[in-house]
Amino acid sequence: MASPRKEPASQGDVPFVDLKAQYAVLEQQIQTRINKVLAETQYVLGPEVQELEGELARFTGVRNVVGVANGTEALKIALLAAGIGPGDAVFVPAFTFLASAEVIVEIGATPVFVDVEEQTFTMDPVCLSSCIEGTVRQGVIRPAAIMPVDLFGLPANYATINALAKQHELIVLADAAQSLGGSIGGCRVGSLTDMTATSFYPSKPLGCYGDGGCIFVDDDERAAKMRIIRGHGLDSGSAVCIGLNSRLDTLQAAILLAKLEIFEAELEARAQIAGWYGDRLADIATTATHPDGYQSAWGVYSILIDNRDKVRAELTKQGIACAVYYATPLHRQPAYQQFSNGAGSLPVTEKLSHRIISLPMSGYVSEETVDHICSVIRSC
Ligand SMILES: Cc1ncc(COP(=O)(O)O)c(C=O)c1O
Repeated sequence: MASPRKEPASQGDVPFVDLKAQYAVLEQQIQTRINKVLAETQYVLGPEVQELEGELARFTGVRNVVGVANGTEALKIALLAAGIGPGDAVFVPAFTFLASAEVIVEIGATPVFVDVEEQTFTMDPVCLSSCIEGTVRQGVIRPAAIMPVDLFGLPANYATINALAKQHELIVLADAAQSLGGSIGGCRVGSLTDMTATSFYPSKPLGCYGDGGCIFVDDDERAAKMRIIRGHGLDSGSAVCIGLNSRLDTLQAAILLAKLEIFEAELEARAQIAGWYGDRLADIATTATHPDGYQSAWGVYSILIDNRDKVRAELTKQGIACAVYYATPLHRQPAYQQFSNGAGSLPVTEKLSHRIISLPMSGYVSEETVDHICSVIRSC
């Protein structure tokens, strides 16, 4: 079996996600898989899509996996299949990528922004509870669903969130675009709540060579509904609902099957690299802490640091790719301000947005490269 290989990146040229190094390891397996699809010509929902759905069901221990066109539509299809729509409130963090809230608005529901915890960057259950109660009290929209986001790869606090959902009869849809491969107490992301959506965008922990995504769901009836929605709402030849065209390409499924072979080894490598960063930066920056029993997929490696903009400029000058996720949280984005409770309503989110910076991460960052990156940060 091929495995991740760690070679020092040439100084001055450190990619954010080293997809070239991964391809060098998997080239043969990926080419063989692609050639099979080309020879068989079943480009849409071909056998590789079902094979991938089966492999991911085994990987996560979830009964059903539904492959779709991207992570955004995975979220949207899950919400539609659960019957969420106009008049419904969906509780979601503002410290996330646009897609999380975008789909809520697209289906006619209303996002209610919840703050995150300072230690984990994921949804704060205390704030969630007060947001649910506040929404009930106001009586304008009906609390319907919670969408925690497993930010940077760390699963949200599902024990507490699921309990709150049960108490208020809400659906939980995990936005696990960044966290496939993470786990809590040995239970993998996908199996931690009612429905889970993930993304196979190239830079995600399990990424394809274009767009892709899938939904994990135990409930057979809901999975069947999702399959109908992803294919224009067609069931046995008649349109039973207004659907979408959101199928996972066979070529993307084939690439993912090749990558899945070394996914566990890559997850181990990512955890080791995160450890190297943590050891070298603990005295000058804040690194995400993981509650006991939580395992991150390390989709993105982020630290909090006071002179963030100086660090960012210096890393960029030295040819080290870095990113700021998320400098402008959703409640401050022009298109989403209408759903905001105003400045100061999400104090932790605001605070994090000024100090966060994300560093190169993939299964292919050498210890020497981590040393180099950390010494540049220290020099600031
Ligand atoms: C938290 C989060 N949710 C949703 C998405 C959307 O995934 P996709 O780009 O596959 O549509 C992303 C992608 O970056 C993401 O990071």
